[in-house]
Amino acid sequence: MCGIVGIIGRDDVAERLVDGLQRLEYRGYDSAGIAVANGAGIAVRRAVGKLDNLKSDLKTDAPTGRVGIGHTRWATHGGATQSNAHPHKVGCVTLVHNGIIENHWALRVELEALGVRLSSETDSEVAAAWLDQLLGRAENLDEAFQQLLDTLVGSYALAVVFEGYPDLMFVARQGSPLAIGYGPGVEGGAAEIFVGSDALALAPFTDQVSYLEDGDWAAIRPDRVEIFDRQGAPVTRAVLTIAAEDSVVDKGPWPHYMRKEIEEQPESLGRLLGTLVDPGANALKPLLEEIDFAAADRIILLGCGTAHYACHLASYWIEELARCPVEIDLASEYRYRDRPLTGREIVIAVSQSGETADTLSALTALSGRVAARLAVVNVPTSSIAREADAILELQAGPEIGVASTKAFTGQLMALMAVALKAGRDRGALCDARLAEAITELTSVPRIVADTLRLVPAVETAARRLAEASDLYFLGRDVHYPIAREAALKMKEISYIHAEAYAAGELKHGPIALIDEGTPVVVFDNLGALHEKTASNTAEVAARGAEVVRIGPEEGAALRTPEAGPHATGFAYAVVAQLLAYFVAVEKGTDVDQPRNLAKSVTVE
Ligand code: F6R
Repeated sequence: MCGIVGIIGRDDVAERLVDGLQRLEYRGYDSAGIAVANGAGIAVRRAVGKLDNLKSDLKTDAPTGRVGIGHTRWATHGGATQSNAHPHKVGCVTLVHNGIIENHWALRVELEALGVRLSSETDSEVAAAWLDQLLGRAENLDEAFQQLLDTLVGSYALAVVFEGYPDLMFVARQGSPLAIGYGPGVEGGAAEIFVGSDALALAPFTDQVSYLEDGDWAAIRPDRVEIFDRQGAPVTRAVLTIAAEDSVVDKGPWPHYMRKEIEEQPESLGRLLGTLVDPGANALKPLLEEIDFAAADRIILLGCGTAHYACHLASYWIEELARCPVEIDLASEYRYRDRPLTGREIVIAVSQSGETADTLSALTALSGRVAARLAVVNVPTSSIAREADAILELQAGPEIGVASTKAFTGQLMALMAVALKAGRDRGALCDARLAEAITELTSVPRIVADTLRLVPAVETAARRLAEASDLYFLGRDVHYPIAREAALKMKEISYIHAEAYAAGELKHGPIALIDEGTPVVVFDNLGALHEKTASNTAEVAARGAEVVRIGPEEGAALRTPEAGPHATGFAYAVVAQLLAYFVAVEKGTDVDQPRNLAKSVTVE
C-alpha cells in the first residue's frame, strides 16, 4: 500500500504531484506529503488525514521547484501522525517509501548508537537516515544508494531526492511496484520524467511507461533515465504504451465511486463477455489456448478477500462443469504451506489490482513447479499479470472505491468462462450443456441490470439493518461464498460486525448468537437445496431473528430476477453490494475510503 509519485519537470511540480497522489489515494489515506527540490534546498509539506488536508495547506504555502516526490500513506509502522508522514528528511536525504523494511529495528539501533536522532516511528525514516550515513562514506551517490539497497531487507518502492542535487532523483523497487513514465521529448533531452506506484498515477502526464523489475534501481535526470539491476549492471526495461484513463477521477452523477462502480456492472460485464463469448455462434471465443486443462490433475485457486470469495464460488462451478478437483486457499496462507505438488496443477491467481503482495508471492513461489499459472486480473500491466504464464483481463475499468464491486462480478464471469473452457477441454461437457451454460452466461449483464432496479427496496431494507450491531448472512452451496462476500462488504464499509455461515452449519454452534430481533440475511437456494435453506431460515426465525430473504420467489423481501443456477449468484452479489452501500450511507461512514483500509495491499 501507500502511493508514490515523483516528477522531474520543466515547471513547478507541486500541483502535479498532488494530482498524481489524488489518483493513488486508494492505496492509503492516513496522511500525505510532498517534497520539492530547488536551488535553495528541499521543502517538505505533510498533513495528517486525507489528501484534501494537504491540498488546503498548499493553497497558501506551495513550495516551488521542478523536481519533487509525493506520498500517500497507509500506516504500517507508527500511527497516522504528522511526524510519521512521508516524505522523511534526514540530513541530505529526502525519501518516500512504500513497503516494509523488515530489518528496520536492527538498523535503528545502529543509527542510535551513532548518535542519529530519528523523529518518527517509521521504518522508512530509518532507510533515509541509513542512506544519509552512507553518503558520508561512499565515493558517490550511486555507490551509497546501491549500498543502501544491499542493506535493506523487506519490500520497498523508494523515491529519493538529495540536498544539493536539484536535478536528480533515485528510485528503487523490491517487492512493491514502481513505474517510470516518459514525457514527450525524452530523446531530445527536454523531457519530463515521472515516477509512480502505478500507471494510473501517471495517466494525466504520459502514456509511455516502463516497469522496474524487482531489484532494479534508477538514477533519473531531466535528460536521461539510467536503470540498473540488483548487481548494478545497466539494464533496459521496455517502454509500453498504456491506455490512459483520464476520466477515472470523475464520479459522474453518483455520490460515491462505489455506487458508480455498482451501477457500471451491466456495462463492465458486457465488455468482458464480449472477450469471452461469440454471441452469434453461442460459443466460447478462443481462450487461453496456451493452457491444457485436459492434462491438469488439479486446479488451485488463490486470492485474498473478495477475490478469494470469487475463487470459492468458482470452485463449485469448476468441479461441476469441468469435473476437475479444485483446491482453494487464501494466498496469504498458501504461500507458507508446504504443499505436495505433482507438476500437473493449473494455478489461477485472482486479483483486481494485480499487486496484492500475498497473491504475487504465492504465484511466484509456484514458478516451474506446476503446469501453468494463470492470472485473472483487472490490471493487465500489473506485477501478477507480468509474473503469470497467461492472463485473463477483467475489463472492468479502474475500480476506485476501496470495496471491490465490479471487479468481483468480473472475476466470477471470467472464472465461469474458465470452468466452461476446462469442461470442454476435458470432455466433461457435451455440446448441449455447454451451449446452455453459455446462454446463461450471456444473460448475466441483463440480469445484473434488472437487479439494479431493486435500489429503492434495498434502500428501505438498509435503513433497518443500519441500526444493528451484528448481522448474519446465510447461504448454501454456491450462495455460501456470496454470503461471505456480503458479510465482508458490510463489515468494511459500514463497520457493523457481520458474519457469514453456510446455512446448514448454524445449528452446530453459531445459532446460539441468534436473539430476538437479530437481523439474518438469507440468500435463497434454487432447486434441490431450496427446502433445506428454507428450514434453516425457519430455525433462526423461530428464535426471534428478523429475516431478510433474498431470492427470485414471491415472498422474498428483496426479489431478484429469475435467472439460471449459475447466474443467480451475480444478482445476489449485486444485492449484497447495494445493501452494504446503503447501510454505510445511512450510517454516514466514508464509503469510498473506509477506515484502516487501502485498495492495493502491497505489504504482507
Ligand atoms: C474487499 C476488497 C479486498 C480485496 C483484496 C484483494 O472489498 O476489495 O478484500 O479483494 O484486498 O485485492 P486484489 O483483488 O486487488 O488482489
